[in-house]
Amino acid sequence: MFISLEGIEGSGKTTQIGHMAAYLQKTGRDYVITKEPGGTAVGEKIRSILLDPEHTDIDPMAELMLYVADRVQHVQKVILPAMASGKIVICDRFCDSTTVYQGVSRGIDTDLIQRIHHLALGGLLPDLTFVLDLNPEIGLKRAWRQIRDGSRPERETRFENERLEFHEKVRKGYLELARLEPERFVVLDAAANPEKVRETILGHLENHLKNQRQIT
Ligand code: TMP
Repeated sequence: MFISLEGIEGSGKTTQIGHMAAYLQKTGRDYVITKEPGGTAVGEKIRSILLDPEHTDIDPMAELMLYVADRVQHVQKVILPAMASGKIVICDRFCDSTTVYQGVSRGIDTDLIQRIHHLALGGLLPDLTFVLDLNPEIGLKRAWRQIRDGSRPERETRFENERLEFHEKVRKGYLELARLEPERFVVLDAAANPEKVRETILGHLENHLKNQRQIT
């Protein structure tokens, strides 16, 4: 099973992934927690290029290709092998991030992005995608607070430096994707009590695991 988490910066994905890991651990499931960009050694290098705030002049198409390169390496070396050995894969961001950040916000044709993904990944998509929906003003404030207190690295702030409108488009992009594919997406209010968000996510996770057991 392949699950992704999506959301703007500061939406609380990392915290919720920690809760999911604790739940899977407690219930004795085999799982892998991973992320994009940077889920492999090569990907970590690509990540440092992509998120460096000094790289203000990366061409949008070059940016897109770097995300895709990171993803292909990640899918081939981590995600597919883990799935093949029956593990549950939890991924902090996947191709929906590219569709909304490079597509909706940067303005690259989203059909083109989907064609590239199809070509590069053979149509691999998560079975379940959680979107932590949040007003970007709140998300960016949280993210900058974490940068100031050192819990988020300052050397990775290229997207936090983007204008508010950029992040507003990201948010709308996610909501539109969720509207188009309601069977894959679950949208959660990330401004709600984190405990409530946790319970909702774990409820969906449990249901999915139950359904999967019935199918196999
Ligand atoms: P994060 O690890 O803090 O989530 O940061 C990753 C950043 O990269 C975040 O600002 C979103 C951005 N991003 C894209 O623009 N496109 C992508 O395909 C992915 C995976 C991330």
